[in-house]
Amino acid sequence: MSLKSVQELEEEHLLGTYNRYSILVDRGRGPYLVDRSHKRYLDLLSGIGVNILGHNHPRIVRLLRKQIKRPLHVSNLMYHEYAGRLAQRLCAISGLDKAFFTNSGAESVEGALKFARLFANSGRGGPRKRRVLALEGSFHGRTMGALSATHPVRYRDAFEPLVPGFDFVGFDDVEDLERRFSDDVAAVILEAVQGEGGVRPISDAFYRRARELTRAAGAALIADEIQCGLGRTGRWFGFERCLPPGSVYADRPDLIAIAKPLAGGIPMGAVLLKAAVADPIRAGIHGTTFGGGPLACRVALEVLKIVEEERLLDHARDVGSYFEQRLEELLVLPAATEVRGDGLMLALELGVAARPVVERLIAAGFIANSTRNTVLRFLPPLIIRKKQVDRFIAALRAELEKE
Ligand SMILES: Cc1ncc(COP(=O)(O)O)c(C=O)c1O
Repeated sequence: MSLKSVQELEEEHLLGTYNRYSILVDRGRGPYLVDRSHKRYLDLLSGIGVNILGHNHPRIVRLLRKQIKRPLHVSNLMYHEYAGRLAQRLCAISGLDKAFFTNSGAESVEGALKFARLFANSGRGGPRKRRVLALEGSFHGRTMGALSATHPVRYRDAFEPLVPGFDFVGFDDVEDLERRFSDDVAAVILEAVQGEGGVRPISDAFYRRARELTRAAGAALIADEIQCGLGRTGRWFGFERCLPPGSVYADRPDLIAIAKPLAGGIPMGAVLLKAAVADPIRAGIHGTTFGGGPLACRVALEVLKIVEEERLLDHARDVGSYFEQRLEELLVLPAATEVRGDGLMLALELGVAARPVVERLIAAGFIANSTRNTVLRFLPPLIIRKKQVDRFIAALRAELEKE
């Protein structure tokens, strides 16, 4: 099928919720995608932060071949050998105590919000804790609960009324957080680096104050690590950057929501919980049919193993700071105004609309992305090399010089 016929078919039958690039993907290898006309693209988006190992990592392909011969789904009424092992591994890297498996980011956020309200109301006395504080600019997903914690009006407007009890704090504004915080807050939810919000890292001071206030009030701190977690920033989790020196268990969030890269492109997410949050949760109180199946869990175990064995956290930090420095060189151009980010989660703020630049980069063989109209966002696979960054920077410079 040609790109044109695929486009026509989709236009007729597929709900038009997505604004696709004109690329008909055929195959991929490492940081490259190849389309039907054999054009090769350097992928600086990784399926919006999913493909941290690039495309078709040989170890994942081998493992899928093996696992595909075994039952694909067994339901959560039976055991298989990988769920417990994956939960153990996720607890080890996060320092938390329990895991609950989901199928997407929004579902991880939903679970985290429910668990947080349950936890905050499981103590005795005090006011009923209903409120959830989120940050201006936040994006937590499209389901009703996650959407209620999502700030930009354009995502929410058509779907009001949303879940009651959600309130927004100025981005990284400690004073506003203190002003809005009260005894009836059940949770504060934050992204250590806002993704859709334009790749904006929060400060250590904001994270630590949110941690102090929630701990003192018996409320939960939820870290939404769906985009910035699992190696993206060169650490397992984005919030680790905000922890005080010599940090202890109490400094970590009570709940962590993860998804995107967890199972290397197989849909999967998880909520990680501290023991105190997990304590009141009993069988039947929450669940999902597909969550934590054998295929997804086995692949996720392999993804985490590859990140560790190929030392991809160190690599992401190293190439990430190189990429950032190369982006900063572009600030001499009138069209480029600011570089932001952490590790391999980076953005170049433009003084002009970003989407046309993205279109021209695609034509030149580079897949990037724009968010918030004027932000070029880069979420390359963690395996990207400095030479590839150099090639991209040269192409980006050429495009920005045209502005
Ligand atoms: C920080 C954050 N939270 C939640 C979500 C929602 O994840 P999903 O699209 O898998 O539901 C996203 C997706 O981009 C995200 O970036």
